[in-house]
Amino acid sequence: MSYQPIKVFAPTNIALLKYWGKVDKELNTATHPSISITLDHYGSETEVCFRSDLEKDQLILNGKDIPHFPKVSKVLNALRSFKNSSLRAHIRSTNNFPTAAGLASSASGLASVTYAASLALELDLSAIELAEISKQGSGSSCRSFLGGFVQWHDKEDPKVSQILSPDQWPLDVYLLLVSRDGKKTSSTQAMIDCQQTSVFFKEWVRKSWELYPLFREVIERRDFKKLGDLSEKHCLLMHKTILASHPPIVYWSDQTLEYLRLVRGWQREGLEVFFTIDAGANVVLVCEKNSSVQLQSKLESLQADFLKTCIGTGPMVKWGQVVC
Ligand code: DP6
Repeated sequence: MSYQPIKVFAPTNIALLKYWGKVDKELNTATHPSISITLDHYGSETEVCFRSDLEKDQLILNGKDIPHFPKVSKVLNALRSFKNSSLRAHIRSTNNFPTAAGLASSASGLASVTYAASLALELDLSAIELAEISKQGSGSSCRSFLGGFVQWHDKEDPKVSQILSPDQWPLDVYLLLVSRDGKKTSSTQAMIDCQQTSVFFKEWVRKSWELYPLFREVIERRDFKKLGDLSEKHCLLMHKTILASHPPIVYWSDQTLEYLRLVRGWQREGLEVFFTIDAGANVVLVCEKNSSVQLQSKLESLQADFLKTCIGTGPMVKWGQVVC
């Protein structure tokens, strides 16, 4: 038996309360809850086709044949087990933003593969069920199944849930591209190394649990100033914890620091904007709609390399007939 091919888009997400630490490396259960915003436009477009003529799964990422893809294989095997299927998948995936540069490309990549493969296998799974499967491939991908402000909390049911929809708090997001190159240390390995060696790791987990209810509260109140303070604090705490790994892991570059200096200056002038940085050198800026024109003109006058987006609604099917 063969299935129809299907193509989907899954957005990436940027964590404000960040996931960095695993309780279980196989299942990617997290040491503490995380909260992200789902981006509009930017993410991965992925086509999956299960075929009887293939001997092994194939992945073509951004036009390149990838020989080894354990995270994707984990997700495919989990989905195939629902149907007892041994069919192999041909996957073609493209990111419309820099891959592996600390802009959560694994989040959109894994979410899009999971979503497309589940539809291609004609499985009828909810976003929450898909998120749980996708998480096994890459933790942060579970938050890409919902739009708006999304939380991932392994001790709650459901583990992934929406806090606010994009309409309830529409914010603009700027991705400042310090580097379009892939990072040297993958976030999976860096996270494991950091957890094992950073003297600050225990404190990082304790502090993340302490900040979680505060994040929830300021998001529900839509308090931009407080959300900015908390997000910057948590981001800096993560990078301090990462830097204290042995050997040290340094994601930032001089340009990253220069952007942080500029943002501090703009904040002093009264511009309501805050930053966050994932596992890479690139800087993400978040602002309310009424500050966006001013922020954009500042970035343009710097001739910064940036992508502008806003908070988005989540994944969608691009084409393909699902025959149930
Ligand atoms: C800094 O989800 O890429 O972006 O579960 O090992 O695949 P794995 O890690 P990954 O880590 C993302 C880390 C982060 C923070 C976040 O997105 O919450």
